[in-house]
Amino acid sequence: MFSITLSSIPSIIRAKRCFQHSNPVHVAAAAALATATPAIMNKRLISAFVQNDRYIIVREEDADADADENENLNGNAMKFPGVWLRDNCRCPQCFHQSSQSRRIDWDKFDIKVKVQDISADKLEKSITVKWSDQHSSTYDLKWLRERDFNARSRNKYLTEFYRPKPVHWRKTDFNNVTNVFKFDDVINNDNDLQKWLESLAVYGVAIIEDSPLENDVVRRLADRVGFIRKTTYGEEFIVQSKPGAKNYAYLSDKLPLHTDLPYYEYKPSVNILHCVVQSLSKGGSNTLVDAFYVADQMKSKYPDEFKVLTETIVDWNDIGIEDGKPFHNIWRSPVICLDKEGNYARINHSIPQRDSHFSVDLDTVIPWYEAYSKFVQLAQTEAAEFKTKPGDILTFNNIRLLHGRTAYDDTDENVRYIVGAYMDWDIIYSKLRILKSKRETF
Ligand SMILES: [Fe+2]
Ligand SMILES: [Zn+2]
Repeated sequence: MFSITLSSIPSIIRAKRCFQHSNPVHVAAAAALATATPAIMNKRLISAFVQNDRYIIVREEDADADADENENLNGNAMKFPGVWLRDNCRCPQCFHQSSQSRRIDWDKFDIKVKVQDISADKLEKSITVKWSDQHSSTYDLKWLRERDFNARSRNKYLTEFYRPKPVHWRKTDFNNVTNVFKFDDVINNDNDLQKWLESLAVYGVAIIEDSPLENDVVRRLADRVGFIRKTTYGEEFIVQSKPGAKNYAYLSDKLPLHTDLPYYEYKPSVNILHCVVQSLSKGGSNTLVDAFYVADQMKSKYPDEFKVLTETIVDWNDIGIEDGKPFHNIWRSPVICLDKEGNYARINHSIPQRDSHFSVDLDTVIPWYEAYSKFVQLAQTEAAEFKTKPGDILTFNNIRLLHGRTAYDDTDENVRYIVGAYMDWDIIYSKLRILKSKRETF
């Protein structure tokens, strides 16, 4: 074991240490600049070398640390495929700065490109690679660290920048997870805007209170993020009891738990429901369930039924006329949709909007009904019930949560009046990243 500090070893020897660790090695270069004055010397030393012909290893060492500490630091050495580095050259010829877009000519791109030389610049905190295609690329160390392929770095990027990780909740958690914001704060203050959108992303629900009792409030809120997602029912829609209603939601009956528009391939992501007039009758309360939590329960308690709900494709539909235009929407999709990594991608559930067409093999129908009834029962037991007051805006994730409403009675003096609109996650996550980037870089 070394007993002397690494900072007393000449840089060229450190480079050789790198040589010994890699097999076979073509090129190696040490980072420390002997000409730099001690006052501006950085304590971190950088080294870069080639491993197995196809990878580049970038290491940092602390000049003041002992050998053991530096062994730990070396455990965090970054490893990059050469082809990836060449593909991501940041020079103006390969990368268009103002549009932040790759412009490298892929018609001529050599995926077997080799490193001919590497040097590390400790003062600039960068490494420079000379490639077999006669090109030279310089990479900033911080930029490299943000793109490190190790599992911890990737997970940090995915959960802190790509999309916050959802926290699943049950009925008894509802009050704790439902954050409440003031309308004026969300409209005027970026920090509140970010916190609201983060709450929506993590818990799938948040309430904004003290908004004006005006019809354009949902639009003002959506415009603060991006824009309204238009559907068959328009941009803003009024949820009010109407005779001869074209949609089940426009009745004053109990509205069973459901997701909106399961019959769309691109289902609107987030519901904004602005309470302008609340029913003074006993009913008119909202019900909400985290269907990701219900899916967790299905998975652990009834794994076979869970599998059936993730695999059986259900026909969802909506038929009607809106503004004189007839429509017939159909989308076929399971109740619990999983993504490529096995995470929940989307929940579909709506008793009224489930088609009588069920385009699956005959012998899968009865097992599906058995599984679906368990899902519906579990969802019912996990439904939180609450009543919004005028000025409240209930916002929730329509991809994840089920919502419903208890029956109510209108009178001549009291007609329940809710204005709704949708937003899409693409637009919300984009806004969230812009807000975060103002504080941190990714
Ligand atoms: Fe709904
Ligand atoms: Zn380049």
